[in-house]
Amino acid sequence: MIKPHGSDSLNALLIENETDRKRLLDNAVRLPTLMLNSAAAANLVMLGAGYFNPLKGFMGLSDALSICESLHTTSGLFWPVPVINLVRDKPSFGAGSKIALLDPNVDGHPIMAVMEVSAVERVTDEQLCIMSAEIFGTEDSNHPGVATFNGLGHYLISGDVQVLSLSYFQADFPDTFRTAEQIRSEIDQRGWDKVVAFQTRNPMHRAHEELCRMAMERLNADGLVVHMLLGKLKSGDIPASVRDDCIRVMVDSYFPKNSVMITGYGFDMLYAGPREAILHAIFRQNMGATHLIVGRDHAGVGDYYGAFEAQEIFTQRVPDEALEIEIFSADHTAFSKTLGRVVMMNEVDGHSSDDFVLLSGTKVREMLSNGIAPPVEFSRPEVAKVLMDYYQIEGA
Ligand code: ADX
Repeated sequence: MIKPHGSDSLNALLIENETDRKRLLDNAVRLPTLMLNSAAAANLVMLGAGYFNPLKGFMGLSDALSICESLHTTSGLFWPVPVINLVRDKPSFGAGSKIALLDPNVDGHPIMAVMEVSAVERVTDEQLCIMSAEIFGTEDSNHPGVATFNGLGHYLISGDVQVLSLSYFQADFPDTFRTAEQIRSEIDQRGWDKVVAFQTRNPMHRAHEELCRMAMERLNADGLVVHMLLGKLKSGDIPASVRDDCIRVMVDSYFPKNSVMITGYGFDMLYAGPREAILHAIFRQNMGATHLIVGRDHAGVGDYYGAFEAQEIFTQRVPDEALEIEIFSADHTAFSKTLGRVVMMNEVDGHSSDDFVLLSGTKVREMLSNGIAPPVEFSRPEVAKVLMDYYQIEGA
């Protein structure tokens, strides 16, 4: 099976042994506490679930800046996006303290992790701008990822963590949320060798479905792992539970039995386009996938990235030996009215844009909220129904 990133075996930071976990929790109630922001909590879930292997905790300023500049930590680990815990107020504790990290997303704010603080560093505005420009390719605060990042604060608290909870994800998405270790072991049990991962934050329309089918066929893969984001999104994006229902009904109806695993992970969307695509590749390698699909405007938002920038970064900035997982790069997929099937647009001759069924996200939302199903060439009727029900209830 493919090795995890940066180590021979996967080292998830969640303490799974119940006795150890209880002992740590009992001790943690006496520690100074820190309320996390959602971005840091999401990082903890990823660390706890093994997706951010081989990291041991939150990074310090020199690693964060080094990653922004060179995609490597100061010790040479290939990594695309700083995994940091930024807070607004100067904490009363300092290096050498042990603290309890509280979950901002669960009622009662339970302890999520204990942390050995290795440094508390003040980040200047200039350093935050450098980070934003490198991670998101822009400092524009209209970019939803930049807006979130800008609001996190100026104090960087770094250090190793022991994770005690994976927040609300297991309770809210029992059939879908999986740790990297769980996915690895299911891939192993199924006897899959070549495994394609599909990242998504959307309900799967025909273009997504056919993209997955094309990747599986062309790679002669044993299976597909649909791995959906279950964490926070910008307003207007479809909630995870609705997307989950859409994906399940589509896979059940249109893919052969046992060829697809439907899974999800607990992370907030960064909308960091190319850099996020690399992060996606790393954590799919950690969960045991051999290939990641990267299509058009992967992890993008608005017009901030070129349509294929998230593919180009793999050839331009990822050294040959940095990753074992491979990228399945895809052109824009759309239904060809002439051929009567979904195609990669650059693979068909003699087509003009009128020959494809192309609908903007805004147009699709408008149709759904008016109770109009998008054409079957765009959305499977089963998927359209789930979405129309959602838009009718929400009045969205
Ligand atoms: S993402 O933010 O998670 O990337 P989305 O769920 O829409 O957004 O896309 C999931 C994957 O499908 C990404 O790799 C994206 O590039 C790809 N994709 C989505 N729509 C298309 C399309 N029409 N043509 C090609 N690739 C697509």
